[in-house]
Amino acid sequence: MMNDLSAENIQEALRHVDSGMFGAHIHYYPQVGSTNDILRVMAEQGAPAGTLVVADEQTSGRGRMGRTWTAPPRTSLLMSVLFRPLLHPAQAHRLVMVVGLAAARACEAAVRLRVDVKWPNDLQIERKKLAGILPESAIEGDTLTWVIVGIGINVNTQFEKEHPLSEHATSLAMATGHVVHRATLLALILQQMHQWYGQPYESTLSTEWQQRCVTLGQRIAVSTPQGRLIGTAEALDEHGALWLRADDGSRHYLTIGEATIASQGSISA
Ligand code: BTN
Repeated sequence: MMNDLSAENIQEALRHVDSGMFGAHIHYYPQVGSTNDILRVMAEQGAPAGTLVVADEQTSGRGRMGRTWTAPPRTSLLMSVLFRPLLHPAQAHRLVMVVGLAAARACEAAVRLRVDVKWPNDLQIERKKLAGILPESAIEGDTLTWVIVGIGINVNTQFEKEHPLSEHATSLAMATGHVVHRATLLALILQQMHQWYGQPYESTLSTEWQQRCVTLGQRIAVSTPQGRLIGTAEALDEHGALWLRADDGSRHYLTIGEATIASQGSISA
């Protein structure tokens, strides 16, 4: 397959959109360890807000909760975005929403299928994982010095039946049967990010995030660093945290974790 994500293809695709600061400093690499790690070094050396690191392949891609993130070359969008926001550290989740909603809207426009959010920050199509988001930040006193939001999107990945992730993961190509041009999708995402970054948080970002969140109202099991909890996902707060009503009636405030949605009233995973 040709490389649809070269530096030239990205520049060409960007000519057709208004991506503001997100199109101004793009570093493309055929292969890196982790785009989050490359961007962290740049952030510490003073790279401007909006700087983007995109790679065709990662040799040590990282997921949430200490997991690895693997993706064959030529299949995915693997990228990290640098923010230097005037926000309190507790508000950093807004930037996950900016990137997540931008990716959700752009993917929807590309394939005309609904993209959902699964708490805390996965994107799904038809209950299967399409993308994962990994935010990292540096804090000084009461302010965020920088926030890096890394996102990995399964664009043209094929998870064959024998693949360990095939039951839980999908890609745009698997969901539609069509190959999607990654540079064009990237440009659409950056255009959406530019739009979302300017939006007031309360009225738009968090409303759309909650509307897309399939976890809300569901009976779920959540693995947390403190152990496993089962109950109903009652609400999301403005920091992206989840209120879970456990079966014994107790209420839990969860900022991180991995949720499994029960089907027909049973928890299977
Ligand atoms: C998850 O669902 O666990 C989050 C996965 C995040 C993967 C992306 S790929 C680009 C960026 N660089 C990394 O090393 N990880 C994120």
